[in-house]
Amino acid sequence: MRLARARFIHVLKGTLANMNYPTYIELPFTAEHNAPMGADNCDQYPESLVRYFLENYTKEDDCVFDPFLGFGTTAFVAEDMARTPYGVEADGERFEWAAGQLENWQNIKHGDAADIGAYDFPAMDFCITSPPYMLCEDTWNPLYGGDPDYEGYNVYLARMAVIFKAIAKVMKKDAVVIVQADNIQGQHYTPLVHDFYQQISKSLTPQAEIIVRWTGKKSIDHRDYELTHCLVFKKS
Ligand SMILES: C[S@@+](CC[C@H](N)C(=O)[O-])C[C@H]1O[C@@H](n2cnc3c(N)ncnc32)[C@H](O)[C@@H]1O
Repeated sequence: MRLARARFIHVLKGTLANMNYPTYIELPFTAEHNAPMGADNCDQYPESLVRYFLENYTKEDDCVFDPFLGFGTTAFVAEDMARTPYGVEADGERFEWAAGQLENWQNIKHGDAADIGAYDFPAMDFCITSPPYMLCEDTWNPLYGGDPDYEGYNVYLARMAVIFKAIAKVMKKDAVVIVQADNIQGQHYTPLVHDFYQQISKSLTPQAEIIVRWTGKKSIDHRDYELTHCLVFKKS
């Protein structure tokens, strides 16, 4: 009887945990740390996005990981909220700038996210990240810094699968991984959110998709969407 009740509670908790993700949220489009002068910071995400997820899905002292750290948004918010940031960034200038402003600068590595296993990171409680985008019609593969030996969208997607397999290995069991992405309308339509979902779900268990609407966003151009997507995965 006691066993049956425990199993019932476990199932109920699991169900509630799965229901804990909203399908739609609104967040202000705010940047609290300015990117360095002259930087092309159009792929920086708003700090409000990181703050929302850290507030709702982490606690103080948790290890928060961003394998595509960019200008360090995840790490700044994590430090502000008394979490410990870890991250990897391939671009030297972005890495230098972000690490130079962080208390936990030694937790940030300059390199390739595919090499996460070599950096001796601790097991992570939570990950939030925004991978570099590629259009399906492009040849320049951002995951290899445009190396012509690795051209093409299919090579990019296959590499994304390799990188997320490496990410999954550093996550604690049941840890949540949030991946922010947009579908892109170029010459052709690139269903990046769907394609990320397919590659990442090879190593992490999909939980939900949250649509975010930015409030207070000034300009809307082809890169500057009013809505974005957050795919939610769990390390099983
Ligand atoms: C969309 S940006 C992330 C922006 C970040 N969320 C922010 O707010 O600043 C993606 C970043 O991934 C980096 N990147 C590209 N390939 C990488 C790789 N193989 N390993 C690690 N970082 C990589 C790019 O240099 C870029 O800064």
